[in-house]
Amino acid sequence: MSKRLTKAVIPAAGLGTRFLPATKAMPKEMLPVVDKPAIQYVVEEAVRNDLTDVLMITGRNKNALENHFDNVPELESALEEKGDQTRLLTVTKSADLADMHYVRQGAPRGLGHAVLRSRMHVGDNPFAVLLGDDLVDERDDVLGPMIAAHAKHGATVIALMEVPSDLTDHYGIATVEDIGEGDIVRIVDLVEKPNPEDAPSNLAVLGRYVLEPAIYDILETTEPGKGNEIQLTDALRRMAHENIAGGVYGFIFRGRRYDTGDKLDYIKAIVRLALQREDLGPMLEQWLDVESHRRK
Ligand code: UTP
Repeated sequence: MSKRLTKAVIPAAGLGTRFLPATKAMPKEMLPVVDKPAIQYVVEEAVRNDLTDVLMITGRNKNALENHFDNVPELESALEEKGDQTRLLTVTKSADLADMHYVRQGAPRGLGHAVLRSRMHVGDNPFAVLLGDDLVDERDDVLGPMIAAHAKHGATVIALMEVPSDLTDHYGIATVEDIGEGDIVRIVDLVEKPNPEDAPSNLAVLGRYVLEPAIYDILETTEPGKGNEIQLTDALRRMAHENIAGGVYGFIFRGRRYDTGDKLDYIKAIVRLALQREDLGPMLEQWLDVESHRRK
């Protein structure tokens, strides 16, 4: 029987070079999606899945992230004096969400290195990793089925999604085996960002993982790989190959997900989420309609 999951690790220390110059002085995880920074959606998703102990791995721009999940007394009293309870709630909500902890990565030496920085906090417990720039639509559950599969198999579970075959070089790509459990599969192999002609499938690793603590020992000895970074994918491949701590399972997610570190995906996330909002949706829909006719 594996231990209960309570801890979430959110790496947010990458350089965000695809989004320069916006990310020159601000982490990409703080870019607003409608009116909330991307990272808040991710923390809310962790909390919805009972992962209330959140460790964020931060980089040189740590202040904005820490401040967002803290109280701002002067702003709160100004809103209180105005009697603006609605806005007051939006401001205090992020501070009350979870039990937040922070650790710095130092140099951004890759996702595997960022995850290794959580070892002291997590100890000998299973934990979830949610990438801070990877946003899953609230209407589609990814962590729920992963946590259930982890409880059933007592082993690591990673999230997968189908991507267009010509985009495999943007992702870690998996070779999987059907185990007769529908969207839960066994991972046979993983390769980081293969060229389309070398890709073993079009099943890409997305930014949600439920990891057994055995991953730490593997990461300690994982050499820098693609891009000279310590890759989490490389450590997971070893875990799968050598069947360490029960090997690796995958959950094939078929819902909506946005990489907010990518400009086009970021814009799609804003439009999709704004369209479902009562205060913005109807007017935006009308405007999009007019705009698309105007461009024809
Ligand atoms: P990405 O590869 O998308 O982040 O990492 P990046 O390196 O910042 O992006 P670009 O390509 O330069 O635009 C996925 C997640 O892992 C974190 C990032 O912050 C992001 O949430 N990460 C990545 C770290 O925390 N540390 C690292 O060394 C690398």
